[in-house]
Amino acid sequence: MFTQLNAIERAALEALQAVQDEAALEAWRVAHLGRSSPLMKVFDEIGKVSKEERPAIGKRANEVRHTLEAALGERQEALRQSALARSLDLERLDVTLPGRRIALGRVHPVTRTLRLIYRIFADMGFQIYRSRDVETDEYNFQLLNFPPHHPAREMQDSYYLAGDYPEDNPLVLRTHTSPGQIRAMREYSSQHPQNPPPVRIILPGMCYRYEQVSARYEIQFNQVEGLAVGKRITFSDLKGTLSDFARRMFGQQVQTRFRASHFPFTEPSAEMDVECFVCGGEGCTVCKRTGWLEILGCGMVHPTVLQNGGYDPEVYSGFAFGMGTERITMLRYRIEDIRYFWSNDMRFLTQF
Ligand code: PHE
Repeated sequence: MFTQLNAIERAALEALQAVQDEAALEAWRVAHLGRSSPLMKVFDEIGKVSKEERPAIGKRANEVRHTLEAALGERQEALRQSALARSLDLERLDVTLPGRRIALGRVHPVTRTLRLIYRIFADMGFQIYRSRDVETDEYNFQLLNFPPHHPAREMQDSYYLAGDYPEDNPLVLRTHTSPGQIRAMREYSSQHPQNPPPVRIILPGMCYRYEQVSARYEIQFNQVEGLAVGKRITFSDLKGTLSDFARRMFGQQVQTRFRASHFPFTEPSAEMDVECFVCGGEGCTVCKRTGWLEILGCGMVHPTVLQNGGYDPEVYSGFAFGMGTERITMLRYRIEDIRYFWSNDMRFLTQF
C-alpha cells in the first residue's frame, strides 16, 4: 500500500504540472482528491489492513492528501498571478504621458459685475433683498402706478402665464425688479405699522420681456434695483449715492449727468449717464457720438407707491433706481452683442 500511495502522489503531482487554467485545475481536483479518486479508495480500504500496519498507512495517506491539497493551492495562486500579469500586459500604461488638463470653471461676466455692484452698495449700507421672478400683474404694474393701458402691460411685451388666473390680475414673469420695492416696503411696514423702519436695499434678479432678440435686446436679463426710504430723503441723496456708485464702478475720474425722464413709479424721474470711457467723451461708436453712456433709470419714489408700500408719503420719502447688469457688463468689457451672455459659448466664457 505504501508503494501504491507513492505512485498516487507522483502521478498526481506530475499531472498537476500540465494544468494551465482554472477548468483543468478543477478536473485535476476531482480526479486526484475527489470522492472516487485512487487516494480516496485507499482511505476506504484502510479498514482491511492489519491492525499493526494501519496507523502507519493512515499517516502516510493523510500526508499524501495534505501534499496534494497544498500543491493544488499553490497551482491556483500561480494561475491567478499569471492571469494578472497577462492583463497588465494588455493594458499597458505609459506613466510618462502628460495628463489631460482639467478645465477650470470661471465666474460668468455678469456674475462678476453683480458681485462688484453688491460690494459697492454693501459699503454704503444697502442690504440685498430677493424678490420673486413670477409676479402678479398687480405688483408688477398696478401698485407701481402704471396706468391701465400702459404699453408694457400688453401681451405683446410681457410673458403672462397661461392658467386659470383672475382676468384683472394674471401672473406675469416680472418685466423689471421694481415690484420687489412694494414687496419689501410692505414687509418692513407691516412689522411696525405706526413707525415703519427706514429701507436701504438693492434687489437683484432676472427680468423677462417679450422682445425681438437682437444685439441689444434679450428676452431675459438681470437688473439691480435700489430703494431707499426714510424721513427727509432728497434728490441730493439720490444723486450723491449714484454718482459715488459710478465712480467706484467705472473709475474715480468718471463724469456723470442726470437727464429728466419718465417712469410711472417715480416723480421726478431721471436717467443717469456716465461719460463715455471708451472715447473719454469725444464721441465714438460705443456712445453713438454723444460722449455719454446711459447707465440707469432712477427717481424719487412716487407718493402713491410709498402709500402702496405702507409708508405715509407725508412723513416718508425715498429714491429708487434700476440698472441693467448685462448692459453695464457690455460697457465694462466692450462686448458688442448681448446674445453672448446666455449662449454658453466656451470661446466667449473663457475670456473672463
Ligand atoms: N424699472 C425701470 C426699468 O425697468 C427702472 C427704474 C427702477 C427706474 C427704479 C426708476 C426707478 O426700466
